[in-house]
Amino acid sequence: MLRAADIAMSGTKYNFDDVVNRRNTSCEKWDFLEKNFGYDDLLPLWVADMDFRSPQPVIDALVSRAKHGIYGYTGLTNEYYDSVIGWYRRRYGWEIRKEWIVYTPGVVPAVSLAIRAFSNPGDRIIVQTPVYYPFFKSIESNGRQVLNNRLKLNGDRYEMDFDDLEEKARDSRARIMILCSPHNPVGRVWKKDELKRLGRICADNGLLVISDEIHSDITYPGIVHTNFASISEEFASTSITCTSASKTFNLAGLQISNIIIPDEKKRSIFSNEVESCSNVHPNSFAPDAVMVAYNECEDWLEEFRAYLKGNLDFLKQFVKENVPEVRVIEPEGTYLCWLDFRRVEQDVKKLERMMLRDAKVALDEGYIFRDGGEGFERINLACPRSILRSALEKIAEAVKKH
Ligand SMILES: Cc1ncc(COP(=O)(O)O)c(C=O)c1O
Repeated sequence: MLRAADIAMSGTKYNFDDVVNRRNTSCEKWDFLEKNFGYDDLLPLWVADMDFRSPQPVIDALVSRAKHGIYGYTGLTNEYYDSVIGWYRRRYGWEIRKEWIVYTPGVVPAVSLAIRAFSNPGDRIIVQTPVYYPFFKSIESNGRQVLNNRLKLNGDRYEMDFDDLEEKARDSRARIMILCSPHNPVGRVWKKDELKRLGRICADNGLLVISDEIHSDITYPGIVHTNFASISEEFASTSITCTSASKTFNLAGLQISNIIIPDEKKRSIFSNEVESCSNVHPNSFAPDAVMVAYNECEDWLEEFRAYLKGNLDFLKQFVKENVPEVRVIEPEGTYLCWLDFRRVEQDVKKLERMMLRDAKVALDEGYIFRDGGEGFERINLACPRSILRSALEKIAEAVKKH
């Protein structure tokens, strides 16, 4: 089957070089630098959203919704569900059913709610560090413990440590595995064989897999994402899949995600947990935006992916020519890139100071992704190339002085 994701990209309709000023829009990435980093005069390439405008059809749909003028309680229509089902059918060949889809106002809330619904205080939740740091909060602030199956760095490539996973999965308090697929921050798009092996270990030990696939639409050419639950009926029934259009079309501020739970019993337990928090309704704007994005904006995504590949190539070339002591871990997916600065500076606090005080850039420090993240930096490539160039020049200058 020809996947839309693999259709060759030709011609450009959108201008990703356009620099849009995000200051004074209550923007977490640009307007809260002082609060988040202690300095305001930084170039931000940290939190995982894009500095690009969403596709025009999405903007038009939101304007039209805003003009209607009534923003009362909102629900999800059949057309909404069809747009989600169509997306997974077209792009992944994965057949999902309307009733499997549970709305939550984000993937992180869904992960926290699943932890509450499917484990008890004191239980252990397996993660694979270095990994997306809000998982730790979801686990620990709910009184559960992190059980770490640390990733191995083999050469320039991260791999799962299956021997260690078998051991961790056998732990009598282990209940859940959080799979980050594609993996933030290391950029791996897990192969089907790797997912099968992981799924086997989890199923044999009675663990629920929470597969966070929020980055799945953003892969580099030739790389194919496999939906964990699509691998077998067994995996479908022992997992919940967290999805969203938010990374794909830059809609994170609209707070909408689709949690796919094929198993009826698990779905009912999860839905009860969601409803225990509130009478859950999406905001008045989010459903229209997602619907239009999924139905009409694949061409935008393909152009974005082509631009992103250009940004990655630019970064690799720049680093090779100007800061060869930094190692680029080449991502297979996500618009995040994991950079190894350990040959520049081993002390994580000194490295952080170098970024903030000398380079004046805001990246995500590797150590916040916990074990194995120390001495790395995560840079966000979803920005106009001129911003990326400017950030890299500042970093190169700071490294030279260091
Ligand atoms: C792996 C992963 N999961 C979840 C999220 C955030 O999801 P949401 O904004 O829907 O809570 C992110 C954002 O960076 C992410 O990288």
